[in-house]
Amino acid sequence: MQELAYVNGKIMPIDEAKVPIEDRGYNFGDAVYEYIASYQGKLFCLEEHLDRLERSMAALSFPKMSRDEIRQAIRELFERSGIERAGIYLQISRGVAPRDHAYPETSQPQFMMTVRPVHEKPPEFRHEGATAITVTDLRWGRCDVKTVQLLANAMAKQQAVQAGVFDAIFVSDAGVVREATSSNVMIVKNGQLVTHPLTEQILPGITRQVILEICNERKLPVEERYFDLDTLYAADEVFLTGTVTEVLPIISIDGRTIGDGTVGPIAQELYQALLEKIGA
Ligand code: PDD
Repeated sequence: MQELAYVNGKIMPIDEAKVPIEDRGYNFGDAVYEYIASYQGKLFCLEEHLDRLERSMAALSFPKMSRDEIRQAIRELFERSGIERAGIYLQISRGVAPRDHAYPETSQPQFMMTVRPVHEKPPEFRHEGATAITVTDLRWGRCDVKTVQLLANAMAKQQAVQAGVFDAIFVSDAGVVREATSSNVMIVKNGQLVTHPLTEQILPGITRQVILEICNERKLPVEERYFDLDTLYAADEVFLTGTVTEVLPIISIDGRTIGDGTVGPIAQELYQALLEKIGA
């Protein structure tokens, strides 16, 4: 079992991996990423992550890269690591060029990855739930593109840490609940699941999609629509979905108790159903 890095075709220990200082990812945040997890030696939803990566690269007009080569590189790094429960961080930048805001006429995308064991959430979060605050959404207008421009997310997460809670939930100036710093947000009210529609203001989460499919299979009513802060506070259940958070119940937001302050039945059911889908 070994933590490893991959840089443009070469695999090495993480502390030996280097990037050029004029990488546009470093200068401009001009890079996209994915975070893919494995369970018991199998990568979960790899093709869905590759689909989203392609969409992100197309949205930023990156030079084309072969999907097969990307997939093969991911598999090679993962297999070499021998880590069964791995988290693969993958980043592709537009390339390396002298600093200039306009895109270089030609550029060679820079492809790097790391593989490490997944940093699991504390088990008590699953049984007792976690807590959150809300923050104003300071992010840019294309949150559907998975770019490395995560400063607003990092600032919000740091606010959460300083407030002694697990995460921060972004709320627009007009009061619309968007998503959390690295997860989507779902609420349950009177047996119906509600989540933000797929727009440019949130990331189209892969776990979100899997959960919506599970709801469809189980005939659980779902509405993809906007909801405001008061609706969030008054929900019967609130939970986060994401590759690392999976289905993570939130029992208190801004110091207000959600529902009866315990992990709700829908969150429990969907978490178990997700584990079944994963085969874990
Ligand atoms: N984050 N929303 C945001 C802003 C995210 O960054 C993520 C994922 C999600 C959930 O997407 P998915 O279900 O595809 O993981 C929603 C990854 C895990 C990260 O930044 O590390």
